[in-house]
Amino acid sequence: MAFRNLLVTNRGAVRRIEINRPDKLNALNRETINELHIAFDQARVDDAARVVVVAGSGEKAFIAGADIAELANLTPQQAQTFSRAGQALMLKIERLGKPVIARIQGFALGGGMELAMSCHLRIASEKAKLGQPEINLGVIPGFGGTQRLLRLAGRSAALELCLTGTQIDAARALQIGVVTRVVAADQLDLEIDALADQLAASAPHALAGVLDAVLIGGECAIDAGLDYETQAFALCCATADMREGTRAFLERRKPAFSGA
Ligand code: COA
Repeated sequence: MAFRNLLVTNRGAVRRIEINRPDKLNALNRETINELHIAFDQARVDDAARVVVVAGSGEKAFIAGADIAELANLTPQQAQTFSRAGQALMLKIERLGKPVIARIQGFALGGGMELAMSCHLRIASEKAKLGQPEINLGVIPGFGGTQRLLRLAGRSAALELCLTGTQIDAARALQIGVVTRVVAADQLDLEIDALADQLAASAPHALAGVLDAVLIGGECAIDAGLDYETQAFALCCATADMREGTRAFLERRKPAFSGA
């Protein structure tokens, strides 16, 4: 389907979903959020897409947040709907069942940082700037930022960033665990392509098992998490890919995972 605010492309098994509002620094208006819901639903059910990369158009921003022009006029009831739609999108990304990589090349502010935090891997250019500046607008993060920042970086950093609205650079974001890796600006695409290709060549059921076990494990007691890990591990042993992976090791060759 054709999107007004997104560019969706495929490179082999890598699906790229690019927010394409560079004149508004890729700010998330309602229409873009609705389109992202559809694009991620499509990515989830398309077996040909094994990895998703989320990017923003232009050099300047990944995403500069929720669209403030829309935000300015929200009633409390509309704000609730807007927040729920954003939160549902972030949950959809987090629970996609296949790896999602955020390509952070510039500003990742407000909803942009929240969307990045719902991705599984965040690769940032050394020029990236991240932050939750909602406090400066008289609101708080509404797309899960208070909760995911707390879980990723701890209470101290979550309170500092959300209370002050301070922008942090890529080095600090790496230090507090908000990004996975920082690379030179001119290496960003090379690094992301290599990472995406590596994941696209891996066994999809095992990738999904890791995502589920880590994400569920983060929200439950360790006994339940370990039990879940055991079930997911056992399920992997029902796949052709597990036979292929172990046989390829014993035969000293590279495995060819089919997804079966
Ligand atoms: N919502 C709507 N429009 C936005 C936006 C947002 N979150 N962020 C940027 N834009 C728009 C600007 O209004 C401007 O549009 P215009 O050219 O039609 O006036 C355009 O994008 C470029 O932004 P501009 O502010 O001129 O760029 P800058 O380089 O001076 O500053 C930022 C860049 C990111 C520091 C600044 O745009 C900013 O602070 N944005 C808002 C960040 C924010 O508070 N996000 C949380 C929202 S809840």
